[in-house]
Amino acid sequence: MITDQEFSDAAQRIVDGGLVAFPTETVYGLGANALDVDAVSKVFELKGRPTFDPLIVHVASPKDLDDLISDFPRPIEHLVNEFWPGPLSVVLPKRRGIPDLVTSGLPSVAVRCPSHPDAARLIRNAGVPIAAPSANRFGCISPTTADHVREQFREAAPMILDGGPCQVGVESTVVGFQDDDVILYRPGGVTIEAIEEVVGSVRHAGTDDSSPSSPGQLTKHYAPSVTLEIASGRIHAGIGERLGLLGFSPSEEAQSGEEYCHIEFLTESGSLREAAANLFAAMRRLDAAGVDRIIARPVPEVGLGVAIMDRLRRASAS
Ligand code: TXA
Ligand code: MG
Repeated sequence: MITDQEFSDAAQRIVDGGLVAFPTETVYGLGANALDVDAVSKVFELKGRPTFDPLIVHVASPKDLDDLISDFPRPIEHLVNEFWPGPLSVVLPKRRGIPDLVTSGLPSVAVRCPSHPDAARLIRNAGVPIAAPSANRFGCISPTTADHVREQFREAAPMILDGGPCQVGVESTVVGFQDDDVILYRPGGVTIEAIEEVVGSVRHAGTDDSSPSSPGQLTKHYAPSVTLEIASGRIHAGIGERLGLLGFSPSEEAQSGEEYCHIEFLTESGSLREAAANLFAAMRRLDAAGVDRIIARPVPEVGLGVAIMDRLRRASAS
């Protein structure tokens, strides 16, 4: 439980240009006043994030979106009505006043209204929109608990609001609008199927790292410190090599498991929702177990499985 005092301290820190790590339903965010360039630059600095990777601006209520954007295409309005507050970020033409640093100089801004009550309360108390990437160092695994944030930044850690583990476990789905099409920039907590039920089929943004339309969607991301490989068959360890297994569910695992020093299953029951919620913590435990290589089993690529496979592919890219 976060105390009233902690909430007011945190809000004051944001107003004063400081940083606060806070829970959302997806992952923990590293927040700063989105309208304060100096504050936002501290986010990039602490994360070690390149400034060409734009941030998501968080609002407390859907009606606060109007202050940030200059155009609101109908299909995106339908998505916002359906999925906010929740794990969906919308990329829309930005209003002047949003610092270029937040948007990496792009004419658009990504906005999200999180459903986590602690996030909403922090933003409301601060009285300003909060720019927040996931609270991890650039390229590393996103945090789904307050301890993950603490372990990541150690003595450099900002104030952290501990709201317990994140329920969704993968980041928000990021969508935009171009030439009459809804564009998917990043699969995430709202499934593509659910989005397509509202607006019809969506176009997937290119995954080319140099593509200006999807900045920050770098191929290598969300990565543990050791090699992660996606493979469904039997794997042979090298001589003296310690293998770790990131399995989907025990019933899907045909092998005996003897060849692995450490095994993590994402779900007991085969639920993709449970698997997404466990993904990043399981990757961290494998990393901490000191294995030399992590073998990740593919998960069914439907629903939240699309976001899980996206994160696994990025973690495995070299
Ligand atoms: O669930 C989430 O979205 C979490 C929590 C804290 O809200 N935040 C998060 O932020 O994942 P971050 O910075 O790790 O990821 C932001 C994503 C990046 O892939 C970035 O490229 C994309 O949003 N993005 C931001 N602004 C954009 C823009 N104007 N156009 C296209 N993509 C944008
Ligand atoms: Mg991130």
